Amino acid sequence: MNWRIKPLDEILATAEKKSLHRSLSAFQLMMMGVGAIIGTGIFVLTAEAAQKAGPGMMVSFVIAGFVCAVAALCYAELASMVPVSGSAYTYSYAVLGELVAWVVGWALILEYAVAASAVSVGWSNYFVGLVERSLGLDIPDALSKGPFAGGIMNVPAAVIALLVTTLLVLGTRESARINAVLVLIKVAALTVFVILAIPVVNGDNFEPFSPNGFWDASGLGIAGAAASIFFAYVGFDAVSTAAEETKNPQRNVPLGLIGSLAICTVFYLLVATGVVGSVGAQPVVDPTGQAIAPGSPAMAEACALPANADQLVCSGEPLAQVLDQLGWKTMSQLIGLAAFLALPSVILMMLFGQTRIFFVMARDRLLPFSDSLSKVHPRYGTPYVVTIITGLAVTVFSAFFPVGVLADISNSGTLFAFLAVSIGVMVLRVRDPGRHRPFHTPAIWLVGPLALLGCGFLFFSLPPATQLTFVYWTLAGLVVYLLYGFRNSPLAGRNGGV
Ligand code: ALA
Repeated sequence: MNWRIKPLDEILATAEKKSLHRSLSAFQLMMMGVGAIIGTGIFVLTAEAAQKAGPGMMVSFVIAGFVCAVAALCYAELASMVPVSGSAYTYSYAVLGELVAWVVGWALILEYAVAASAVSVGWSNYFVGLVERSLGLDIPDALSKGPFAGGIMNVPAAVIALLVTTLLVLGTRESARINAVLVLIKVAALTVFVILAIPVVNGDNFEPFSPNGFWDASGLGIAGAAASIFFAYVGFDAVSTAAEETKNPQRNVPLGLIGSLAICTVFYLLVATGVVGSVGAQPVVDPTGQAIAPGSPAMAEACALPANADQLVCSGEPLAQVLDQLGWKTMSQLIGLAAFLALPSVILMMLFGQTRIFFVMARDRLLPFSDSLSKVHPRYGTPYVVTIITGLAVTVFSAFFPVGVLADISNSGTLFAFLAVSIGVMVLRVRDPGRHRPFHTPAIWLVGPLALLGCGFLFFSLPPATQLTFVYWTLAGLVVYLLYGFRNSPLAGRNGGV
């Protein structure tokens, strides 16, 4: 084991971070959180969760929200102590050493880049639905779906990914004002949905409540749906990274984190109840009665059958479809419009997060071609090389892979990173108890182990193919590290390294 640890003080010095003006309030943090959180998860993956768990997906939303809440509390302590870019990668470097940091950074590529692809595909679903419903045009599946979903290439998803990449190269940041408008749009859309769907809830639609049971090795059931719908909560780290700019962080950071997660959980539960209760959300099954894996070619085939045309679990834009089925045609289009307007900002945040992590890893000289990668554009002042490379990869993934598969892969990386963070925070409490902690995770010896177990549980509830993808990805990362970072790191030859 290679324990090269980059001392915390050195990290803080390398970043040469001036202390930022403390201006953010708990309310502003909550707005930031909600802006980053609400996206493809609730707007699109609700259908996927219903295929995995049926009405039991309501419990899945609670489980995923709980795991995120305990992980967020651990995240916040490290974020407040190490308020520099790079999130879990940087924290791990300071606490668990270079090897773990590398693996975490490598996993974060899955979290951010693959999530950007997933949200692009989700956006494409709503864009296509909006165009088809409002303009009466028919966009062929061949051009609006990837090969696993019965098409050839998802052109709208690729286009939005490229557009967002261009904005990032030009230096677009999300301003607080635009974020506030988008939060309002998203919250208004979900509120309208709840107001229209809840009154027509029919108790019969909740039966059978859990058609696929609680846990299943293939990733179905309430636990499998929780592992997928975890995606709907990802993004709250935006709050913890702003710890240094927050007034009274000890009070406001947890309020911002837990507050935004709580607001989203309430909305998600109401939306899930509306979806399940109004039109029903039972899984599509194969001839043997077994629920089909979402995102698979078999699912695309089953959903192409006329008998399944109106099934919620087959919809790429479930919230719009529910309202359409309930007869609220205009409202359905407005929900589509809200997703169309608001989801690109989630793609922007994910891509932005990815480029920052690459940038920090390159600055630490762990990535090959570090100098070229960390080049900053002379005119726009953005790390354009890394942004373009990341954007192109995101474009390719969004063009060819289904949203649920991408979200699951992204979750595997996120869960691993959160796991490392929850270990890190406990290790640092023991190793360096006297260090100043602007924010203390409450009841760390309860919250830390719960975060660890929760993340591990959700990871092992993901489909086996996703877990395997994560293992291959990690092994590839280790090879890159051994061939490059291990030798080129400035820490080579220090505390335990060779
Ligand atoms: N939570 C974000 C979404 O659902 C990533 O799109």
